[in-house]
Amino acid sequence: MKLKGLILSGGKGSRLRPFTYTGAKQLVPIANKPILFYAIESLVECGVREIGIVVGDTGEQVRAAVGDGSRFGAAVTYIEQDAPRGIAHAVKIAQGFLGDDPFVLFLGDNFIREGILPYVTQFSRHNPPPASQVLLCPVKNPQDFGVAELREGRLARVVEKPAEPPTNLAVIGIYLFDHRVFEAVNSIEPSARGELEITDTIQYLIDHGHEVKCEIVDGCWIDTGKMDDILEANRAILETLEPESAGTVDKASRVEGRVVLETGCEIINSVIRGPAIIGERTRVVKSYVGPFTSIYHDCLIQDSEIEQSVVMENTTITGIGARIQDSLIGRNVELKGCDAKPRGCNLVLGDFSRVKIP
Ligand code: G1P
Repeated sequence: MKLKGLILSGGKGSRLRPFTYTGAKQLVPIANKPILFYAIESLVECGVREIGIVVGDTGEQVRAAVGDGSRFGAAVTYIEQDAPRGIAHAVKIAQGFLGDDPFVLFLGDNFIREGILPYVTQFSRHNPPPASQVLLCPVKNPQDFGVAELREGRLARVVEKPAEPPTNLAVIGIYLFDHRVFEAVNSIEPSARGELEITDTIQYLIDHGHEVKCEIVDGCWIDTGKMDDILEANRAILETLEPESAGTVDKASRVEGRVVLETGCEIINSVIRGPAIIGERTRVVKSYVGPFTSIYHDCLIQDSEIEQSVVMENTTITGIGARIQDSLIGRNVELKGCDAKPRGCNLVLGDFSRVKIP
């Protein structure tokens, strides 16, 4: 069965401010790779070759990062959404691209470490396929998601972010549909938050007697909406890291555990304790980089200590007295310690920045 892919890469990313003032949330790196790339790779792994990416205000950046898709072995078509009008609205405007083909809808900020091959295989096995197949995952905070209610093992109802969740089963942001979804997205009305909801779309299919299957995901799924989720996804990937060294390490340095040193990085008089990944052309000088840390490309870490953190590209961290922990540090940031008196802090922080100083 030929399946297409539809990835959503728009949205405001308000919960990930300040990073989303200047960048698409789907391009935040996890283990030195934009979140969005994991979605593309998961689709390609299932044999999906035609992928539509729905973009909004940050479309230019997404295009620059993904290109025509050939580096992933896919052909990418960009679909512009004029404003964040909901997931079902994105499906609606992608009808021309999707045509009559069944497809995987993948929210570009959803991260699933083990990929989606078993679920796609399951869907494709049916001929004709069900109208939809949704993936469910037990969570501690179901009120933050679409929530599923099952009756006799079958999906009976889905509700968007209910104050009193009927179960702990979140409907995750990866869905399979066939062409019948268009009848639904063209019939439903915007919700109270003014969006065409994907949960209403699924409910419409159920209410109109179409078959909607569900599968429970066993594996690591994370909706990377907030800073802690990014750090968690980063940890999840680094847990499975295969060591690799394309960088240089001087004699005074120690590299312990599972560490990836990307092309052209330099480790000088430092300790790197894995799992950790050091990006292309990044220099670590007289510093300690501890477990579960990803430093992206073209950074400088000097006379500093950092662990359990993600650092984005072109950032400089020098002479910081305290160990940096559990932190997400953006692009082109300059973080400098200073010995001069008076020992006050000198900060230039953008809106919604968060800093804790010991
Ligand atoms: C969206 C969906 C929700 C789903 C979630 C998964 O929520 O509306 O049903 O559970 O994605 O990530 P949003 O992240 O847009 O608030």
